[in-house]
Parts: sequence; structure tokens; C-alpha cells
Amino acid sequence: AEASLLRSPECPAADVVSLKQPFFIGVCGGTASGKTTVCDRIIQQLHDQRVVLVNQVKKMYFILFLSSTRIALSIDAFDTEQLLECMKKLKSGYSVNVPIYDFKKHQRCPENFRKVNASDVIILEGILVFHDSRVRDLMNMKIFVDTDPDIRLARRIKRDTIERGRDVNSVLEQYGKFVKPSFDDFILPSKKYADVIIPRGGDNIVAIDLIVQHIRTKLGQHDLCKIYSNVFVIQSTFQI
Ligand code: ADP
Ligand code: C5P
Repeated sequence: AEASLLRSPECPAADVVSLKQPFFIGVCGGTASGKTTVCDRIIQQLHDQRVVLVNQVKKMYFILFLSSTRIALSIDAFDTEQLLECMKKLKSGYSVNVPIYDFKKHQRCPENFRKVNASDVIILEGILVFHDSRVRDLMNMKIFVDTDPDIRLARRIKRDTIERGRDVNSVLEQYGKFVKPSFDDFILPSKKYADVIIPRGGDNIVAIDLIVQHIRTKLGQHDLCKIYSNVFVIQSTFQI
């Protein structure tokens, strides 16, 4: 029975596919908590791995980072379904086409797509990435970046005026009307899904080191599993 199981085309093939799956990390937290900074530090330390960072900006907008290249993208009104499909494909080792989003113009560019190739590590970062249980279930590790709200507001004002070309009044109005209520209603309650909570964001070097060590261990285990599974198949064949 063991021999026929091993000879069955589905069985070893299925194992190989699952062992090659990339390590998928979700990084959540309030606006300007330091999510992007934490991701950048993780990517810097994983310089010898292929890492893709997808940034979910609004519910419907995503930015993609490919190593050091930053690409804004959007997945339009059916966002969650498309995000889910996109993440499923990436996690299964397929490449995906992603549309590009312009922050300053507040526009998607439907004619612009970027092909994202398969990677060893996928990071999905954004304020609502723990919202959908199907997306959460794909994640191997869930991180919540926990930074004081006053500090976040101060950073947001600075960032949106300097980097995103907004004026202070519009930033404050958007914060009071949408950003803070959505933090209280949707983002903070999703903290309970986190495996790891990082206080102070990118300044927390110890937390980032521990996370990187964990990722390396898991990636190493994948390699070991591949070796062991080959050894197992060869030995079994020999016994047949
Ligand atoms: P998020 O991705 O959660 O919105 P970012 O990492 O983009 O957060 O940080 C938001 C802003 O705050 C950026 O302009 C960034 O440069 C700044 N920032 C992030 N971490 C720190 C820090 N530890 N000290 C000072 N400024 C920071
Ligand atoms: O990077 P951060 O987590 O701060 O980004 C999420 C926030 O950015 C959300 O509050 C979203 O509404 C806002 N945003 C924006 N303008 C854009 C894209 C996102 O104000 N063009």
C-alpha cells in the first residue's frame, strides 16, 4: 500500500507544492504606526531571500514593494476578493499581475500593471489586513504594530503634508472623520488576531530581530523538509 501511495502521481507532487509555499506574513496596525518601517527593516535583514511586500492602503488600494522598489497599486471595488485571489496565487508560488495606484493623483492607472514573481517571503501590510478571515488564514505569522495614537497623528500630519502633497486641514479633517473612527471600530479590535505585538514599531530592534530569526528558521525547515522528503522517497523506492 505504501508503495502504491508513493507511486501515485498526486501524492509526491502535492507534497512538493506545499513544501515550496512561501512564508506569508501579515503586518497590521493603525495609520503611521510604523508598519512600513517594520517591513523595510525585515526586508533589509532578509536581503538574501526573495521578498514581496504588498501594501493595502485603503480597503481598495494596495501598494506593492518588490525588494527596494515601491509600486502603488489598486485592486478596485472587488478589493477583498481580488486581494484574496492575489495572495492565494502568490502563496501557491504563482506570479500575479497587479494594477498600479498613484497616491498624489488619488487614481488608479488601469492600463498599468506590474508582474510580481513568486517569492520566498510575502508580506501583506495595511490597516485592514486582519479584517477578512480568509486572508488571515493564509498567513503563517500575524504581526500588530502598536504605537501611541498621538505619535501616530503627529507622524501622519508630517507624512501626508510632506510626502503626499496634502494640506494640514484636510489631513486633520480626514483623520477626525474617517481615520480615527475606523481605527477604533475595525483596526484595534483586530489586534486580537496577532501572534506578535510590536510596541514602538521600527525602533523595536529586538522584536524585529526575533521575527527575522523565526522566518529564517521556518525557511530553513522548508529546505530540510525538501531534503528529508527526497531521502524518504529514494529509500522507499529502494525497498520496493
Ligand atoms: P505606517 O506604514 O504604519 O503608516 P510608516 O512606517 O510609513 O507607518 O511611518 C509613518 C511615518 O512616520 C513615516 O513618515 C515614517 O518616516 C515616520 N516614522 C516611522 N517610524 C518612526 C520612528 N520610530 N520615529 C520617527 N518617525 C518614524
Ligand atoms: O500607511 P497607512 O497605514 O497610514 O495608510 C493607510 C491610511 O492612508 C488610511 O487611513 C487611508 O485612508 C489613507 N490613504 C490616504 N490617501 C491615499 C491612500 C491611503 O489618505 N491615497
